[in-house]
Amino acid sequence: MSIRNAKSASGFQRATQRVVARKKARGAKRPSTTLAELKAALAREAKLLREKRELLQRQDLLSQEFEHRLVNGLQMVVSLLSMQGRTATTPEVAAQLKTAAGRVAAFGRVHRQLHLLDSQKSVALKQYLQGLCDDLAGLLFRDGAARAVVVTGADVRVPTALGIPLGFIVNELITNSAKFARGDITVRVEASSGALSLSVADDGPGLPAQFDPASSKGLGMKIIQSLARQNGGAVRFSAGDGGHGTRTTVAFAQSP
Ligand SMILES: Nc1ncnc2c1ncn2[C@@H]1O[C@H](COP(=O)(O)OP(=O)(O)O)[C@@H](O)[C@H]1O
Ligand SMILES: [Mg+2]
Repeated sequence: MSIRNAKSASGFQRATQRVVARKKARGAKRPSTTLAELKAALAREAKLLREKRELLQRQDLLSQEFEHRLVNGLQMVVSLLSMQGRTATTPEVAAQLKTAAGRVAAFGRVHRQLHLLDSQKSVALKQYLQGLCDDLAGLLFRDGAARAVVVTGADVRVPTALGIPLGFIVNELITNSAKFARGDITVRVEASSGALSLSVADDGPGLPAQFDPASSKGLGMKIIQSLARQNGGAVRFSAGDGGHGTRTTVAFAQSP
């Protein structure tokens, strides 16, 4: 090795030692700062998570409270209409007030079932309809009639907002089937390539010949059609299973 090279080698060594010393000094200080920062960040994160949990709990409580008030309010309207029905001067008015009370009560059941499933944004349609139908069957078949409402078909979720009109439509259709037919009532959910349909079928006498739902005097059919249309669906009438009875289908061309 030449003298120049030896000199520059020792210069290089000194420079390296200086860098190592600086690194050591920095290294000794850094971990303690980083640890403190890390602890502070963790504490901040834990606080934020706690706050988030508390907010979610509050939101849950508020939505439960809202549902309770809604169902109680509807129950109060049902009682008022029933009371008014009992004091009606003609049987027709009494019957109409009873029907109106029944429809408000149906809304109460729809909301209660949705609430039981704790569905904020979407609801498992079949499970929801099953609860609703059990509720309704208990009400309609009180006299111990050996009849049932069976819910079958695909497991799909629908927006909770759509669950409300669908529940109400099913309520109207089952009430009709309970009134005009004698056997079991079948509710079917079908879903394929984005389309959804919901039908209620019975084994009764079928709709009257040349039945036109648009000019039908009954309010039920008008409500069904209007709710289906408002939600982008269409109503179809056909025969029930085995060509007997009535099947009413509400179909949505695209998954709602
Ligand atoms: N499941 C059914 N089976 C036979 N006829 C039915 C059925 N559903 C409805 N209808 C007929 O359609 C009419 C209109 O029904 P709707 O609008 O629900 O009125 P309502 O139930 O008050 O009679 C009924 O009066 C009945 O003639
Ligand atoms: Mg009806």
